[in-house]
Amino acid sequence: MKISTLADSSDQQCYEKKAPENALVIFGASGDLTQRKLLGSLYELFVRKLLPGGFFVIGCGRTELSDDGFRAKARQLLGDRKADQDDVNRFCDRLHYISGQYDDTRFYDTLREKLSQFDQKYSMHGSHIFYLAVPPQLFGTIIDGLGQAGLTCGEKEAHLCRSRLVIEKPFGHDLDSARQLNDKLHEHFNEAQIYRIDHYLGKETVQNILMFRFANSIFEPIWNRNYIDHVQVTIAESLGVEHRAGYYDKTGALRDMFQNHLLQILALVGMEPPVSFSADPIRDEKVKLLGAVRPFNADNIDKLLLRGQYGPGKLNGKNLAGYRDEQAVAENSNTETFVAAKLFIDNWRWHGVPFYVRTGKRLPRKLTEVAITFKKVPYSLFATAGIENLPANVLVFQIQPDEKISLSFQAKSPGSKLCIKTLDMDFDYEEVFQQTAPEAYQRLLLDCMIGDQTLFNRQDDVELAWKLVTPILEHWHSSNDTPFVYPACQGNLKPVDDFISQDGRSWRSL
Ligand code: BG6
Repeated sequence: MKISTLADSSDQQCYEKKAPENALVIFGASGDLTQRKLLGSLYELFVRKLLPGGFFVIGCGRTELSDDGFRAKARQLLGDRKADQDDVNRFCDRLHYISGQYDDTRFYDTLREKLSQFDQKYSMHGSHIFYLAVPPQLFGTIIDGLGQAGLTCGEKEAHLCRSRLVIEKPFGHDLDSARQLNDKLHEHFNEAQIYRIDHYLGKETVQNILMFRFANSIFEPIWNRNYIDHVQVTIAESLGVEHRAGYYDKTGALRDMFQNHLLQILALVGMEPPVSFSADPIRDEKVKLLGAVRPFNADNIDKLLLRGQYGPGKLNGKNLAGYRDEQAVAENSNTETFVAAKLFIDNWRWHGVPFYVRTGKRLPRKLTEVAITFKKVPYSLFATAGIENLPANVLVFQIQPDEKISLSFQAKSPGSKLCIKTLDMDFDYEEVFQQTAPEAYQRLLLDCMIGDQTLFNRQDDVELAWKLVTPILEHWHSSNDTPFVYPACQGNLKPVDDFISQDGRSWRSL
């Protein structure tokens, strides 16, 4: 069953802001993130005329590259997307590049000079956004370099200064290091200038969780322990660690996915209605929710968490290496590539409702979804006709690979025989809107330029997530237990099934 498309736009209420004057300085401009995500997203914003007239980019990197070299990389990337040549030329004219060492003060002097030169050239009177698309160990060096060159204002005068800082996770590797990082950031920027990216918050269907919950009146009354049996959040990937094994082996799935993406989704599903759709009210509610998650400790970790590591396997007839055989992974590595957890939220709304979450690499397919399973009917009217077990209604937000929302319900099949069938009422983003959902970075970059922090992590939110996760890391570190090994890209993993079936429930299929 499908939801019908709105034929005209009169039923649509839209709100889109254009970015005010600003320029973007990208550190790590010759790197992977810039090439894969940032340049393409900026280009889309440019074509949609959402960037200001004076907009320009200065790419910074340790790799020697001229402006033309940087533009050539952008052209190649945009050429692959079959972008319009005139648009590409106009966009590339705004790209500049400087190379140097991040610990060299002369590099920041050059940057300051270039900024002032281009501010004049493009009549740009707005803020400078510093985007650190670099490994986290460089954050401190770059922030100090910017501070010493007078490109930031320091915590006290920051309200006078319009510069902004964008950083990508990981924001530390445990609670202490996250606090140290925050202290470092606050030496030169105040919280209102810091944009911590969790790219999952930029995904359309993740944002749709908020619209769905708070723009409809029929779901909120049943969004609680009285009607909901349990919630499942899945982020499954079929890919392995690919070329990132060096980073991943020190990180693992708990830090890489659970501490951030999974907990952020959980917070959006579980939080109370904020007083308004703006940054701090929303972030306040997320923080309250994360603060209500029952803490993990040495006594409950083994019951509430399961970790695994992929072994060798097969996909479409092709042999896949096990995690320990991947390049740059220690041969006795105990790094987890899979985590399942059962969380409880100790508040009035959610008391007793388990939130099962799982994430892993080399699972049978890519799937990100949130499934809300409602309680079953208390008693089957149809028992006399032999139909005793009526499945529960399930509401699913599918975030990837396709963006969908569906609700399952029971209905009578046609005919004189009494048959009840589970049907899905679903809304498919692409089908209804006739377009694919935009890349998360478009939204995040635009929001940062506008100065809207709603979809960015706040300091307290990040620290709370680490507070929850750090005891697990410590426990795993000190215990002799090792992750269970699962064959790459195969379903029905017994320990994972047992983890939930002991509660009389089952995972949604992968
Ligand atoms: C990143 C993780 O944050 O998210 C990666 O570091 C993971 O390990 C990626 O592959 C998944 O993102 P997406 O958008 O492809 O689901």
